[in-house]
Amino acid sequence: MWRTPFFFVTVFLLAVLSLVIAQSRGDYPTSSAVVTQKSWRPLFTVPATADHGRNMLANIDDPMAVDPQVSCPGYKAGNVQRNANGFTATLTLAGKACNVYGTDIQSLNLSIEHQAKDRLHVEIIPTVLDASNISQFILSPHLVDAPEVDHSGWHGSDLVIDWGNEPSFYFTVSRASTQDTLFSTKGSKLVFENQFLEFKSPLPENYNLYGLGEAIHGLRLGNNLTRTIYAADVGDPIDRYYEVDGSNGKLTPFSGNSPDRLKSYTSISHGVYLRNAHGQEVLLRPEGITWRTIGGSIDLYFYAGPSQVEVTKSFQLTATGLPAMQQYWTFGFHQCRWGYRNWSEVENVVLNYEKFGIPLEAIWIDIDYMELYRDFTVDHVAFPADVGRSFLQRLHDGGRYLVPIIDSAIYSPNPENASDAYDVYTRGEAQGVFMTNPDGSLYVGAVWPGYTVFPDWLSKNAAQWWVDSITAWHKEIPFDGIWIDMNEVSSFCIGSCGSKNLTLNPVHPPFVLPGEPGNIPYDYPEGFSVTNATEAASASAASSSQAAAATSPAAASSTTVSYYRPEVTLGARDTNYPPYVINNVQDGHDLASHAVSPNATHADGTQEYDVHNLFGHLILNATYHGLTSVFPEKRPFIIGRSTFVGSGKWAGHWGGDNFSKWAYMFFSIPQALSFSLFGIPMFGVDTCGFSGNADEELCNRWMQLSAFFTFYRNHNVIGTIPQEAYVWASVAKAAKDAMYIRFQLLPYIYTLMYQAHTTGSTVMRALAWEFPDDPSLASADRQFLLGASIMVTPVLSQGATTVDGVFPGAGDGTVWYDWYTGALVEATAGQNMTIDAPLGHIPIYIRGGSVLPLQEPAMTTTQARKNPWGILAALGSDGKAIGSLYVDDGESVVPDTMLWVEASASNSTLSASAQGQFRDTNVLANITILGVLPEVTKVSLNGVDLPNDWAYDGSSKALEIKGLDKAMAGGAWSQDWVLTWG
Ligand code: NOJ
Repeated sequence: MWRTPFFFVTVFLLAVLSLVIAQSRGDYPTSSAVVTQKSWRPLFTVPATADHGRNMLANIDDPMAVDPQVSCPGYKAGNVQRNANGFTATLTLAGKACNVYGTDIQSLNLSIEHQAKDRLHVEIIPTVLDASNISQFILSPHLVDAPEVDHSGWHGSDLVIDWGNEPSFYFTVSRASTQDTLFSTKGSKLVFENQFLEFKSPLPENYNLYGLGEAIHGLRLGNNLTRTIYAADVGDPIDRYYEVDGSNGKLTPFSGNSPDRLKSYTSISHGVYLRNAHGQEVLLRPEGITWRTIGGSIDLYFYAGPSQVEVTKSFQLTATGLPAMQQYWTFGFHQCRWGYRNWSEVENVVLNYEKFGIPLEAIWIDIDYMELYRDFTVDHVAFPADVGRSFLQRLHDGGRYLVPIIDSAIYSPNPENASDAYDVYTRGEAQGVFMTNPDGSLYVGAVWPGYTVFPDWLSKNAAQWWVDSITAWHKEIPFDGIWIDMNEVSSFCIGSCGSKNLTLNPVHPPFVLPGEPGNIPYDYPEGFSVTNATEAASASAASSSQAAAATSPAAASSTTVSYYRPEVTLGARDTNYPPYVINNVQDGHDLASHAVSPNATHADGTQEYDVHNLFGHLILNATYHGLTSVFPEKRPFIIGRSTFVGSGKWAGHWGGDNFSKWAYMFFSIPQALSFSLFGIPMFGVDTCGFSGNADEELCNRWMQLSAFFTFYRNHNVIGTIPQEAYVWASVAKAAKDAMYIRFQLLPYIYTLMYQAHTTGSTVMRALAWEFPDDPSLASADRQFLLGASIMVTPVLSQGATTVDGVFPGAGDGTVWYDWYTGALVEATAGQNMTIDAPLGHIPIYIRGGSVLPLQEPAMTTTQARKNPWGILAALGSDGKAIGSLYVDDGESVVPDTMLWVEASASNSTLSASAQGQFRDTNVLANITILGVLPEVTKVSLNGVDLPNDWAYDGSSKALEIKGLDKAMAGGAWSQDWVLTWG
């Protein structure tokens, strides 16, 4: 095998220039991250036009779009049959079919069912179902769980259903205890066509609404937004309803109507879940909500709450499944980048983290390691097997882990080149595991390796073939977790573009990769020109000349744009061009653009159109089984890019391709909080930003912020300057400081994850969820909580040395302590306080009333788990505090033994009591109690005086007790104990 460098040397120099203009950095080896598309011959490039879809106007932007509410007749309900838990009825079209965006379904079955005390189900499906499930796809519980029914006790339900036929069929869900209407289709028409569903409900003025899938947006969605749900491989686009200030990244929502602070406000929450996997969009407008899907059925679940906590728990317990418990090590720090070109670069990163004394838990390898970007292979020239084996041995011996990427598409070998044979493909093809075209031939799209095929998770052998591939590959690369990418599922061309082109394989993608000529990343964070004027000026000049070189005069002149308007063909479905055009983010809004086309076909005849949003979910499931086969006893660790309702029970998620911009650092918070609601608590983003170059200040702030996310990983695109935590001295220090806190809190974070896994609670929390009766917190997403007890108030804009933050509950008895000083925060109700936060300092607060288990930090979690314990008790204004701790072996799917510790403080005593058999012999090194009054003169443990080993700080009111290791030699939790002070 030999490789042809793909680029000219002059271009190589340009890439080096991008390093020269970087800011001054610490002592570290630089790497010129230039892409060389690996190939056995010069590559044919897929033409850019291959990925250009038809140009369509999204329906919501189309002035000529027909409003179904005006043209459609709605339905009338008849044949109403009461039953023990609700009723059924037949809905019949109430007039002439409108056929606006599909063919109207004449007759529908309605079922209303009180499924549980807190849950009501409204289902509307065609009366005549197509046995092959093709003309109107109904989502099977095999693909997406349907909430389990528990009729017992529903009669006490707070949810009431009403319905009527005037002017056309409607249903109303209300809450009995408050008489509030939660959802009502009264006054609007139900539209049910083979390619279009619509139903709508008014909502209260200035409603607070959250969730609705992944997007880069504030946590509270506001009332001027269309949320389109169609899995897309795209660099995280900011919802267009934001204005970003380019100078410092501050964001202003166009309609940020935060409700005023009201007296005697009581928050009541409910949840609505539409179990429908089709492309869809939800229109949030001042007057209410409109739901539109391009297929499927109405399968609606109303969760009564009445709090966010109850809604989220119930949703997870019944709909998503409880989130996967993670191995302990996965909460350590992960380093990744696209562009680590060989084992020695990878090992150098590990060594640099060691050298700079920054904890590192796992190193991730991107597609660079693959042989010609093919899954389950290794490029043995750059990543030789023997070098890899010895490096991985050293990595594992050092208590560290390896996580490689696996892509979703499978290379389809060149039929004219026998040496191009690829076993993973050959086995898959023989077992019929790939998607096909409607005519039965293989569907061939394009991704990194060239023309590719795509696993068909609906085929009977695909999951096992995937499991076998993972299992066999682990023998070659002893990985510890898996990173699943491109699973939207992405394809770089429209339709089966490779079918007739396989003899060209391997081919280059139809776009210029970062680092390749013409696409050298010169972008820097907002405010870079303020902090690094010279470098910013030269980057800007280089960027302009690159742009000028790319712009052809012809391209610059504008031509008249014409739009394709798909039309309805009665009785038939056009899955590639459905008549209702959702606002798909891809080129021309074409569903086939940059994704496997909707007419790709699955083994049972299902079209990709009906299950596109589920590819990500299903590959995560298959990967989960793959890891279970490799490590039968261990909890699978998977991080995936595309997810669906329920993916959290198998995998965590990272926020996709963000940018090295301050705006994206802010958006990581609402993104994480939304994933808490979705039942995927293991969440993090590309810290320091993926696309574009990072800079010292942004990376400093971001490494500190992400230290309080569940999943903590720094990741970077190829071709940009390095951004590992050791690259800049100040970032190294900031990262170490924040990691020091994270490591102390690891037992707390692990306990929170265990609680999420067993009860459906959340780990990262919005302020409003813990303080629901404060309406001023409804939009709060610049601060967040880790569990109930830790509040993070990060600096999110360039150049700032202070940050404004609220202390929720102040005035209602809640007190907060500064993590660093232990002092009580003097906060008043509703006050937005200005907090000192110089670069390198992230304000962290402990909520009064909390007992936190702590453990001494180390360079890896394995070492940390052998370290002494500590306890931090922050007393509430009533002098009380409670907390708990979960300990197990940190890895088993079903641990043999575990330990559950409950600690509580009141009346000047702190006691701890453990249950369970897990043996943890680490001693208790210290206890810190915050908010202790009056002055302490005496401390005793289990009734025995501790004469010397404590200190009381009269100014911070903190009591610190050390030297407990002798008193509890068997370990902190080996016996119950009581500490008393007075
Ligand atoms: C896209 C992923 O989102 C990104 O994280 C990764 O680095 C590239 N693919 C290359 O594999």
